[in-house]
Amino acid sequence: NIPLKTLYNGVSVPQLGLGVYKVPPEDVYQTVSSALKAGYRHIDTASYYENENGVGKAIKDSGIPREKLFITTKVWNDDHGYDRTLQAFEKSMEKLNMDYVDLYLIHWPIPEIFPETWKALEKLYKDGRVKAIGVSNFLDHHLQTLLTDAKIKPVVNQIELHPKLIQKQTVEFCRENDIAVESWSPLGRARYLDDVILEKLAKKYDKTVAQIMIRWHIQHDFIVIPKSTKAKRQAENMAVFDFELSPEDMKQIDGMDEGFRIGSHPDEIMNK
Ligand code: A2P
Repeated sequence: NIPLKTLYNGVSVPQLGLGVYKVPPEDVYQTVSSALKAGYRHIDTASYYENENGVGKAIKDSGIPREKLFITTKVWNDDHGYDRTLQAFEKSMEKLNMDYVDLYLIHWPIPEIFPETWKALEKLYKDGRVKAIGVSNFLDHHLQTLLTDAKIKPVVNQIELHPKLIQKQTVEFCRENDIAVESWSPLGRARYLDDVILEKLAKKYDKTVAQIMIRWHIQHDFIVIPKSTKAKRQAENMAVFDFELSPEDMKQIDGMDEGFRIGSHPDEIMNK
């Protein structure tokens, strides 16, 4: 019952998935297993998270056919460049114990070299190793640079998005170019759960603050990947398709924007 969103290349993605950033390797098996049991079919990991192994194992053991799942992973900052990216991809596949992923992303726009990295993603796409390719943490100017010599356009840009950071300019650029927007840390990493505006809305709709926030992403047509290690919260975060925020309430949440980033600024990311 999670709606599918069709990307510009025809691939469909469940609009809500489970993020596993900061889920320790020893916990990720349990986390992903319980999410799959709850009905999640979209899991977002990255080589940087060092938990691809457990993600892959939980998926195998779930018995859910691979084609019913949507799996994303990402190439890390020190693996940029054409050859290194192809190698990093094979490593991720080994850890995940899969022969393809649904979506492969450049994790951060490392200056100068990301167009080379993109060429490797284009090759993986043409070779059928991935169903779709995209980017993460790209600002509109990074996308502009990428699009000047890309043969294939990214299908998504996964960026930090929550009520305190709505990234209007980048989101508009993506919309104009038919690049889907995906929200990471959609709950603002649980920092705004006691926000007065959100609490008022939670009461009004008889939902939790987390559900109000996730619904706000859904109504903005973002793909959203809240993270929780707890079965109860995983279920709570999925239960957002039986109500609708009014246009006025959507605007009220938009108005919380402070341009505040929890994560790094994409222009300040270094090749660590
Ligand atoms: P936990 O994993 O212990 O459930 P984000 O997705 O924005 O990065 O936020 C993740 C954080 O929000 C985690 O600390 C997670 O904690 C917490 N969290 C996730 N879902 C909920 C929820 N429904 N209610 C309260 N906290 C939540």
